[in-house]
Amino acid sequence: MTDFGAGTTVDATSIDVPSRFTPATDRDRSVTPLQYRLDPMQVRDIPAVIEVERSSFSVPWPAGAYRRELEDNVLARYLVLRGIPDIDQGSTDVEGSSARPFPFSLFGRTAPVKVEPEVIGYAGLWLMIDEGHVTSVAVRPSYRGRGLGRLLMWGMFEIASNLGARWVTLEVRMTNSVARRMYEGLGFKDAGVRPRYYTDNNEDALIMWSEDLQTEAFQDRKGSLKADLDRRFVWQSSG
Ligand SMILES: CC(C)(COP(=O)(O)OP(=O)(O)OC[C@H]1O[C@@H](n2cnc3c(N)ncnc32)[C@H](O)[C@@H]1OP(=O)(O)O)[C@@H](O)C(=O)NCCC(=O)NCCS
Repeated sequence: MTDFGAGTTVDATSIDVPSRFTPATDRDRSVTPLQYRLDPMQVRDIPAVIEVERSSFSVPWPAGAYRRELEDNVLARYLVLRGIPDIDQGSTDVEGSSARPFPFSLFGRTAPVKVEPEVIGYAGLWLMIDEGHVTSVAVRPSYRGRGLGRLLMWGMFEIASNLGARWVTLEVRMTNSVARRMYEGLGFKDAGVRPRYYTDNNEDALIMWSEDLQTEAFQDRKGSLKADLDRRFVWQSSG
């Protein structure tokens, strides 16, 4: 995770971003009766994002930092991963669906309850000239280990590629072996150290860089990532 420190500012530049990625659904319904969706983060998502943040980082960003990222930082792009209850499995009604069609409502079924899809992860980056700098990625602890971190990183690659970036870079704590393994599996390579970068314990940050996004090698890797996600989920990108 990036430690920007207080008072970091960014020059304003206008950037287009793909507005929406469309549903992902667990293939293994017995494990998770959920659909997944990647959406641009909204201010109203911040309380849920902070909840995930607090369960994921020793020094969580405060809500105000996310508000500034969304409202003031035109270089920032954040996605939330929503988990949407499968409409065939519960008595919930999800925005945009008809979970209890006529005539079931006539036979004593309780009225559908509007459920706001739960935020179960998020990720964000800053687009700076030709590089995407990932500032944060996190998944709720109870949802980890099923490919959702990679799904969020796929979203980061999509945004970076669509905006013409050539590389994606990030910092990660030296001791964060799970995240480091994820990034290595996505083709990131070690590229240096920022000594005592994390202010809570003076831990060093490892700097990692992706492959050149415009090369065939990266396109092949992204194809493999998509194939892996396709095996785990039913999902599409509208981007
Ligand atoms: C890092 C994080 C986002 C990964 O999310 P996730 O949904 O568990 O990740 P995935 O299931 O997509 O797994 C991706 C890779 O991470 C590694 N990984 C995941 N869980 C692991 C574990 N328990 N032990 C070791 N490696 C693990 C594996 O390399 C895995 O790839 P594989 O499935 O091909 O083996 C999640 O652990 C998290 O939110 N951690 C706290 C916040 C954080 O550290 N963010 C990174 C800041 S730089």
